[in-house]
Amino acid sequence: MNYGCGSTVNPRDLGQNPTVLYVGVGGGMELLQFSYFNRRPGAVIGVDPVARMLDVCDGNLRQAERENNWFKRDFVELRNGDALQLPLEDESVDVAAQNCLFNIFKKELLEVALGEMHRVLKPHGRLVLSDPTSEDLMPESLRNDDRLRALCLSGAMPLQQYIDFITGIGFGTVEVRARRPYRVLAPEQYDTDSVIFIESVEICAIKDPMPADGPCVFTGKHAIYYGEEAYFDDGNGHTLLHNQPLAVCDKTAKALGNLGRKDIYITGSTWFYDGGGCC
Ligand SMILES: C[S@@+](CC[C@H](N)C(=O)[O-])C[C@H]1O[C@@H](n2cnc3c(N)ncnc32)[C@H](O)[C@@H]1O
Repeated sequence: MNYGCGSTVNPRDLGQNPTVLYVGVGGGMELLQFSYFNRRPGAVIGVDPVARMLDVCDGNLRQAERENNWFKRDFVELRNGDALQLPLEDESVDVAAQNCLFNIFKKELLEVALGEMHRVLKPHGRLVLSDPTSEDLMPESLRNDDRLRALCLSGAMPLQQYIDFITGIGFGTVEVRARRPYRVLAPEQYDTDSVIFIESVEICAIKDPMPADGPCVFTGKHAIYYGEEAYFDDGNGHTLLHNQPLAVCDKTAKALGNLGRKDIYITGSTWFYDGGGCC
């Protein structure tokens, strides 16, 4: 019914009646949640290659219509299709989402799947993803176990590598919105010598043009000016008000740190970026 590892539904992305693509429908819970925000026929398009999954999803959406006055089954259109070859036109959706699907893909297929999402998004459109990640070494035997990958366990990769795949496709802005404990793979139950800790992340990748000096990746870092003046202006688009934390992307955090000033404090990553600030 629900086999995601975080949420991809965030009101921040869903103003202005967006057309939403959801790949890997599962039981359909997030399709229903997305349709709450746009409520028009075909506003949410769900794609999945598994006929049985589409049937289950359809049944749940019909039940949702019976039980929710606001919801109409035709708000969601289900399409038989594949993440690797999306049955959608170029630049046709405002928001694209997937939850606990892309981690099953190995490198080449992950690049294809991300490339497809990039293709169908309108300029400045948003790709919202939730997947497991892990900083621990995943043994090859587990990594190549299709069943464990399908269970969203052994395809987990380090978070930075996951972000690199996204920016490598050309998404110019990335927001790491949440990072939470998810699962543990223990030697007693799995073919591993040591405990593997898995987290789940929620990320929004925006189809902004790639800046010449590299992507803007927001991981929750902030800069705080605590000098003698009312504010500090770095002359590069960033104004730090006195003792007011300003969310900055990692690139800007580094550049401000490199100024070597004694009156600017740069925080670490919180992994809970919730908008605002400046790249
Ligand atoms: C782990 S479930 C996640 C379901 C849902 N996103 C959720 O959060 O509950 C993976 C889903 O992706 C679908 N799927 C598997 N391979 C796919 C592919 N190549 N393209 C699109 N969907 C796929 C499965 O049928 C299933 O519905």
